[in-house]
Order: sequence, then C-alpha cells, then structure tokens
Amino acid sequence: MTDLLVIAVDGPAAAGKGTLARRLAAELGLPYLDTGLLYRAVGRRLLDAGADPADAAAATEQAQALTAADLSRGDLRGPAADMAASAVAAIPAVRAALLDWQRDFGRRHGAVLDGRDIGTVVFPEAPVKLFVSASPEERARRRWLEMRGRGQAAKLAQVEAELRARDAQDSARSVAPLKPAEDACWLDTTALDAEAAFQAALSLVRARLPSL
Ligand code: CDP
Ligand code: CDP
Repeated sequence: MTDLLVIAVDGPAAAGKGTLARRLAAELGLPYLDTGLLYRAVGRRLLDAGADPADAAAATEQAQALTAADLSRGDLRGPAADMAASAVAAIPAVRAALLDWQRDFGRRHGAVLDGRDIGTVVFPEAPVKLFVSASPEERARRRWLEMRGRGQAAKLAQVEAELRARDAQDSARSVAPLKPAEDACWLDTTALDAEAAFQAALSLVRARLPSL
C-alpha cells in the first residue's frame, strides 16, 4: 500500500471537485472515480422503486444490488437525485456496501477519487489529500449555471438553499461526515476559474510528491 498513488479530493457540493479531479487524473495518467455517482445511483434505484431513500433496509438492499450500468444512467443529477443521494449516504450499511468497491478501484492502479470521505475513511493513507471549497454563494451559482446548461429550470436562491441543506446533512451525519482530513491541503476556489484551480491543485500535489 505504501507506494499506492491515490489522490483524495473532498469538499462540499459544487466546489469543483469533479472537474478538478478529472483533470488531475488525466494529467497524472491515473484512473478517476466520482464516488458521488455511487450514492446517486443508489438513491435513484430507491426513487424508481417508489421507496423512501431514508429507509435503511431498502437502501442497503439497493446498494448491494448496484451494477456498473447504474453509474452511467443519465438521470443522476438534479434536486431529487441530490437529496436522495444525501439521504442514502447517511445510512451506515449503505456506506459499508460501497466501501470495498471504492477501495478496490483505487488499489488496482492508484487513482484520483472525489467525494466527501475519501481522505478520512476510504483512503486515510492517501499521500495527497485536497479539500476543495468555495463560498456557498459561488457554489450555488456554479450549480445553477450547470442546471441551466442541462435545460433544468431553477431559481438561484432555491439552488443555494438546497445546497446548504445538503451540506448541513452531509456534515452532521454520524458516519463518515463531510470534514477535511487533518492532513488535507485546503484549496479555496471561490475566486478561481477551473483552470486556475487546476494549476493550484497541481502545485499542491507536486509539493507533496515532487517526483510527479
Ligand atoms: O464535483 P463538484 O460537485 O464539486 O463540482 P463540479 O461538478 O466539478 O463543478 C461544478 C461547476 O463549477 C462546473 O460547471 C465547473 O465548470 C465549475 N467550476 C469549477 O469546477 N471550478 C472552478 N474553479 C470554477 C467553476
Ligand atoms: O456533485 P456534488 O458535489 O453536488 O455531489 P456528489 O459528489 O455527486 O455527491 C452526492 C451526495 O453523495 C453527497 O451530497 C453526499 O451525501 C454523498 N457522498 C458521500 O456521502 N460520500 C462520498 N464519498 C461521495 C458522495
């Protein structure tokens, strides 16, 4: 495990984790995993089944039945999918069912993974951990722009309220809450565009691992 190159990218909703992690992975020749997709896909399976995403037994059953095809569904984004993902993510047995999957992915060839608990729970031994953030107002603006791009009508104030509620739920849960690892490097992207955030992150990675 010691030489395993895993880069953990954690942070709140719409901070730019995925955009950043995907670019880092491409730059460094590593596989990339968006771990939020796992929780989103479990939430979607529950919504499809007409079940309550907070129903622990039903959610655990769906997490255990998850397939790779679930992750490429086109309906994993949007307010209902966001809240369903956050609800199932608070259930310990759901997280346990998804843990091996994430670890196996990272251990195969190293990886860049983004989520909430990569540096704290999934890969606490990762040599590089980034905690990516931005102000709630800026994150809401970014998510709102994305939704508009997908043709999803939404009010900016409502997007911000939903994002704050989900961050609060993700931070308050007892299992694997959203919080920076003690040895994480903080990256505040409020005033950075995606390119500047990538360059700043690359500098942080190379400061930790000069051979890259
Ligand atoms: O994965 P996460 O929810 O943290 O965010 P994302 O989906 O990667 O990014 C949300 C949006 O913010 C995307 O449309 C990005 O183009 C934009 N953005 C960014 O990723 N990084 C910045 N520094 C500024 C904007
Ligand atoms: O893209 P965005 O940041 O809005 O969300 P995401 O990364 O796709 O994650 C969706 C939800 O899954 C989050 O609100 C968390 O509740 C949960 N999640 C988690 O608990 N742990 C992870 N490693 C990744 C996501």
